Amino acid sequence: MTQDDRYTLATGELGAYRLEILNRIHMPHTEFLLGRVGLRQGMQVADIGCGTGNVSNWLAQQVGSSGLVLSVDSSSAQLQQAQRNAEALTLNNIKFVEASAYKTGLPYNSFDLVYCRFLLMHLTRPADAVDEMRSLLKPNGVLVCEEADFSCVFCDPPSPAYNRRFELFLALSDIRNQNFRMGIRLYRIFQEVGLTVSEVSMYQPTIIRGEEKRLVDLTLSEAADAFIEAGLTTREEIDKMVAQIKTLATGENTVFGIPRVTQIWARK
Ligand SMILES: C[S@@+](CC[C@H](N)C(=O)[O-])C[C@H]1O[C@@H](n2cnc3c(N)ncnc32)[C@H](O)[C@@H]1O
Repeated sequence: MTQDDRYTLATGELGAYRLEILNRIHMPHTEFLLGRVGLRQGMQVADIGCGTGNVSNWLAQQVGSSGLVLSVDSSSAQLQQAQRNAEALTLNNIKFVEASAYKTGLPYNSFDLVYCRFLLMHLTRPADAVDEMRSLLKPNGVLVCEEADFSCVFCDPPSPAYNRRFELFLALSDIRNQNFRMGIRLYRIFQEVGLTVSEVSMYQPTIIRGEEKRLVDLTLSEAADAFIEAGLTTREEIDKMVAQIKTLATGENTVFGIPRVTQIWARK
């Protein structure tokens, strides 16, 4: 991580439940995409910004004992949690590496598939990280990225607290020179680093019930200190918003449209 990169959300045990909910929402789309790009047994795979390892563990199961997954994150707390999750699944073809996405230290020209999800939006130099990922690929290897865009969410019936919650994230990412509209930038970034894109697609999850709906208030609570420190809001406003969104989330009278996700892949 460079000095000006700051991760907004909780890490380790504190953030694990939120990432699990996030994974429940997105994993069917991730699985479909990775199947489509040709993920198979025996592959050497790198998962960059792996978090608590939800996708990494699934990747390890797919590549099997003849394959290997190297999972990188800059947070030791995330990696400890990821290690515990992998041990619980008795996976022994996965290794966790504490490193920056800008300089992973992994061997270049070595991977069949390099993957990242919801990482680039947190970085101040996303193109440098994509360039590093490109370097890790063998010739003809595949780079797959999935990133969100916070600018096209909705709640119906409309909720000012819901809209404000996403405005806060966009404002903070602008202040920190990160990009929570990353989804729509991905194609340009891939082109900037000289990749010929095979496909770009998008999906927007809509949630009407269940614990998945809590993703919106849980993520707001995790980022509260960062918003307050940046002078964007007060604890009082956050507490009110969390309570209002939680009420919407526990009922079934609203539909949440959460950030649209861009899926992109290219061959080296
Ligand atoms: C939103 S989480 C996504 C985790 C995982 N990819 C998933 O989809 O469940 C983003 C992860 O990126 C990691 N991260 C942030 N900046 C990083 C950097 N510069 N290098 C490596 N990892 C970074 C964070 O520690 C966090 O675990």
